[in-house]
Amino acid sequence: MPESCADLKCPNSHLAIASKKPRCGQDLVIARINELRKVSLHGACSFDRMGGSLLVRGAEREGHKQDMEERFRFIPKEIETHYLQGRESQRLSGDRGELERLRTQAILGRSLPAAPAVVFDVGGAAGVYAFPLAKQGYLVHLIDPVELHLEQARSYAASSGIALGSIVRGDARHLDVPSRSADVVLLLGPLYHLVEHSDRLAVLREVHRILTPRGVLFAAAISRFASLIDGLASGFFRDAEFRKIVAEDIASGQHRNPTNHPAYFTTAYFHRPEDLAAEVHAGGFGDVQIVAIEGPVWSAALFHEAWDDPVQRKSLMEFLSLIEREPSVQAASAHLMAVARRPN
Ligand SMILES: C[S@@+](CC[C@H](N)C(=O)[O-])C[C@H]1O[C@@H](n2cnc3c(N)ncnc32)[C@H](O)[C@@H]1O
Repeated sequence: MPESCADLKCPNSHLAIASKKPRCGQDLVIARINELRKVSLHGACSFDRMGGSLLVRGAEREGHKQDMEERFRFIPKEIETHYLQGRESQRLSGDRGELERLRTQAILGRSLPAAPAVVFDVGGAAGVYAFPLAKQGYLVHLIDPVELHLEQARSYAASSGIALGSIVRGDARHLDVPSRSADVVLLLGPLYHLVEHSDRLAVLREVHRILTPRGVLFAAAISRFASLIDGLASGFFRDAEFRKIVAEDIASGQHRNPTNHPAYFTTAYFHRPEDLAAEVHAGGFGDVQIVAIEGPVWSAALFHEAWDDPVQRKSLMEFLSLIEREPSVQAASAHLMAVARRPN
């Protein structure tokens, strides 16, 4: 998948990247592991005195290091590696990224409570949605598992003077947030990176816990057919390995990228619109609406031309709002959004 599936979410190009090379998540993990290794090495010395073999000790240490790495990484290594490439910061430079961002903001704008209200942006990356909301007067807390994204968000907060309520590392499945403290939760990423139904349900229940009664959830998903549509539009479909990935996406929704081609995205689950609605209902939500974010136009041959013309762009945005709930075309959108409320 082109810049697309990667392009699919994370349009962060407006965010300034720190001029100083940020300390990435991997560095922080390794630093923490090294601290812990000092303790384990000390333990290994006494084992040595007891006659333990150096080989066994080395293997144990290696195993311990891997254990620690796993413990300090909230998400699978390949997903973290994908985001540590830092490609997220350019996601909005293309027209499709802008379409996705403007449509997402239009969808949010219709159902957000008036500012000031408390918003948790879970999986918020570098804050492409968080900062504009904070600027509008919302108290926005940003949570993401990738340290690089948090560094980018902190850097942007410092350079723009727009303050967020907090910027913290975390996993959507276990939020360190009091119950009933959020008026709004944005979940624009975590649902598609959790490939097990049980994990996605755990996230939805956790979000339900932190929302106030009648609080609003916005949860994004990637369409089951996004890689097929995108593959044709971008030329990746020429690659037999890519076509195998598409076959599995369509068959099971389980997207994997054994090629490690950076544009083919990373481990994810691709939803059908009806599956997304059922999951959000199962998480305890009522009034669940599924809307298509980009609609069926994002991969059209002349999309760029229409997007660059202000008159056509305005008309396109209006048509996309008009058809966003049309079930017969929803799955042709790259992304879907579930908009739902926590019942009283
Ligand atoms: C494609 S990016 C989307 C970022 C941003 N919300 C947007 O819409 O542009 C997906 C984000 O989900 C985050 N993520 C992945 N798994 C997560 C999890 N278990 N909990 C919280 N965030 C997660 C990633 O770190 C990444 O920032």
